[in-house]
This record gives sequence, structure tokens and C-alpha cells, in this order.
Amino acid sequence: MALQEGHQPHSFLRDAVSRPCASTLLTPSESAFVSLLSRVEFVKLATTYSKVNLGQGFPDFPAPEFLREALLRALSGGSPMLHQYTRAFGHPPLVKVLAQFFEKLLGRELDPMTNVMVTVGAYQALFCCFQALVDEGDEVIIIEPFFDCYEPMVKMAGGTPVFVPLRPNPPKDGKLMSSADWQLDPAELASKFNERTKAIVLNSPNNPLGKVFSRGELGLIAELCVKHDVLCISDEVYEWLVYDGKQHIRIASLQGMWERTVIIGSAGKTFSATGWKVGWVVGPDRLLQHLRTVHQNSVYHCATIAQEAVAQGFQRELTLYGKPESYFVQLPKELQQKRDWLVQSLDGVGMKPIIPEGTYFLVADISPFKSDVPDVPNSDEPYDSRFAKWMVKNKGLAAIPLSAFYSEAHKNNYTNFIRFCFAKEEATLKAASDILQKWKQEKTSS
Ligand SMILES: Cc1ncc(COP(=O)(O)O)c(C=O)c1O
Repeated sequence: MALQEGHQPHSFLRDAVSRPCASTLLTPSESAFVSLLSRVEFVKLATTYSKVNLGQGFPDFPAPEFLREALLRALSGGSPMLHQYTRAFGHPPLVKVLAQFFEKLLGRELDPMTNVMVTVGAYQALFCCFQALVDEGDEVIIIEPFFDCYEPMVKMAGGTPVFVPLRPNPPKDGKLMSSADWQLDPAELASKFNERTKAIVLNSPNNPLGKVFSRGELGLIAELCVKHDVLCISDEVYEWLVYDGKQHIRIASLQGMWERTVIIGSAGKTFSATGWKVGWVVGPDRLLQHLRTVHQNSVYHCATIAQEAVAQGFQRELTLYGKPESYFVQLPKELQQKRDWLVQSLDGVGMKPIIPEGTYFLVADISPFKSDVPDVPNSDEPYDSRFAKWMVKNKGLAAIPLSAFYSEAHKNNYTNFIRFCFAKEEATLKAASDILQKWKQEKTSS
């Protein structure tokens, strides 16, 4: 059901009694289970076999000093109350500074108490969104390839995921492909919207491709959302990681979108501290009130002390906004250099990279290395998945197959690609490059 103005976006409160009980919700369909399994499986393989792990998305360099210092201050010199419960929907200093920051970014006034909610990482923000906003029978449009939890989370809420692909359009001049060459077909996208569509999930900058949606692409999505009265769950966890002078445009700032968009962010990605698990949602109260119900009745709140340190990190960034000393300026600058280094190194061994415009991921074409990993005809497992497993076991290099970011039905659409994470120390990237170069030499001499 599309969302009508003034209509309750979700019947969570209304039919709490008739809603399936928790045990029913915990029986995800087989394909949702497969998707969760594949990620767990690759993390386990990386832990067991990898010498160099460019698989999972986390930095192996330290979180910035100012953030670590803020945590130490909160621990030792701060109020004893920082070790106790705080406000369920977000520690007041954190929601206040997030509201101030997003007022700047969105150009609108925000109420920290009703327009911002702090979550246990962006992951829990996503879970709250799907549980609160998606009803049984609702359709949710997901753009492929996608961060793998979207599909099972939609299904756990009783919704039906409807997939629409980004299609590659390789440059004809022999240049390396860019993530911008992966595009939506406007007619195909429009065909997915109907009266059952409740929401679309947008992830820009996109994991795994690193695509940063352009104003034109966002405008098209916004137009369809407004026309069909559809919500937008906008996962912007990589909002600061944008390269080559590109700009991250927030869909909530486009005409008619604020009232139907929830913006999701992550301190883990923003401050290179994924283990802290601090995330947030920014959006209109009429949507956030339903998220608060789910949050309050599930995790209640996120660790006070981590929220306090993140609040101080944002205070610093607010004062340094746009200045060269800002972490939000420095981090993308450093990551762009790492991206360029890995691009060169992969290109040098013939593993053609797709140059990402954002995030800290890079997808590369494994074709030249395929002869070492024979295809198994009629196997249900996508080729790239077998390749990535072989690579970690035999070469000690961990990456994630692109097929892990597709639905079960489309997992065999692109099976020549693997995803690397380049948020790594120089030594780690160099070690990965050495493995690939040695492998290439062995191939050439055999
Ligand atoms: C697109 C996307 N959204 C959400 C998350 C989860 O973020 P967090 O670690 O803050 O829970 C990730 C983590 O990799 C991600 O890539």
C-alpha cells in the first residue's frame, strides 16, 4: 500500500496483537537465509585462511586521534552518568549536534528530539525502518547490486523485495569502466512502481560499486516516489567518502522528498570506527515516530559512552566544516590515494577495476585469472563465489564476490567480478598487490 498523506505509515501499533509473533518473523525464506549465509561464510573463510583481508568493509588503520581522545575523556574525566542509561532515542548531546549538522546539510530546521534517532549502527537503523514502515503485502524496490541485508530485512517485515538493476555500459574507447557507467534504465525503474509499492531503498554512494548517484538520477527516483506516494529509505553511510571533486547529493533535499525520506548514517563509516556501532536516522517526525516504537521495544538504546564520544567528534567537525583540517575532508583525500594505488595495481596485473566514485570499495574483473579456477558446469554456486573461495584458500587474499550483492534470482547475472575494500594501511594494500603480481608471474611462466 502506498503511503497516503496523514495516513499511518505502518500498522505496527494498530495491529500489534494480530501481527505475527516474533517466532514467525524469525523464519526468513530460504533465499534470505542464503544471503545471510554467504556473508557469514566469507567472513569465516577470511578469518581462517587470509593473509591479506580486503574482504569485509572496515579500515585497518586507527580511528582518528580526536575521537579516541574523546572516548578517553568520557571514560575517565566525564560525568559518572556517562556509564549509565541515557535517553532511549539518542543521547541528548549527540542528537543535538546531529540536528545542527544536518540542518546545515539539508538547509532546513530540525528538532533534535523528533527528527533524529540514534541506533546501534546503520544496520539497526535499517532494521527499524523496515520493521516500522513495511507491512505484509507491501513491495519494496531494491536497486541491484545492494548491501546484502536489505532483502532479508524486507522479508522479515513481511514485505516483498522488487529488484531493479544498475546495468553496466562499458566505455567504447577502451578506458577503464567507472561506477558511473552502471546506470538504471528509467523505463525499467518506472515499471517497478505500482499501488503496492511502499518504499524504495537508495544507497548512494553505493556498496559494492562505489556509484554516486547524480542529481539527474536522484531526480528521476524522486519524481517516481512523489508520483506514486512512495517512501525512500536512503542509506547514506558513505556520504563523506566521495572522490574526484564529486558531490554527494541528499535525495531528501529534492522537491517533495523530505517528508517521505529517512536518511541513514553511520559513525562507524564516518569516523573509521565500525566496531563502535553508532548509527542514526534523520527524517520527518511522522515517520520517525514509528521507528522509535521499534527501537524502544528492541534494543532501547545504544552505549552512552560511545554516543558521547561521537557527539564530541561531530562538535569538532561542525567547527571545522569545509576546512582542510576537517576529518570529513581529510579522510576522502587519503582514501582517494589508496583507491588510485589499488586501481593501478589491479590494472597492472590485468584485473580490470571499475573505478569507484565513492565508498571504500572497488569491484574488479577477474577474467584474466579464471583459467586457474575451472568452471563447474551446472553448479548453482555463482562462478565468482567459487573464485573468491579458491583465492582465499590458495592465495591467502580475501575479497567478496559481486554475486553476494544480488538477489537469489539474479545471482548469476554478473559472475566475473569481486569486491575489494581499500580502507587499509599502505602495507596491507602492498601485500595484496604482491600476491596478485606473484600469481600473474606464475601464470605467465607456466
Ligand atoms: C551500505 C551499508 N549500509 C549499512 C551498513 C551498516 O553500517 P554499520 O556498521 O553502521 O551498522 C553498511 C556496512 O558495511 C553498509 O555498507
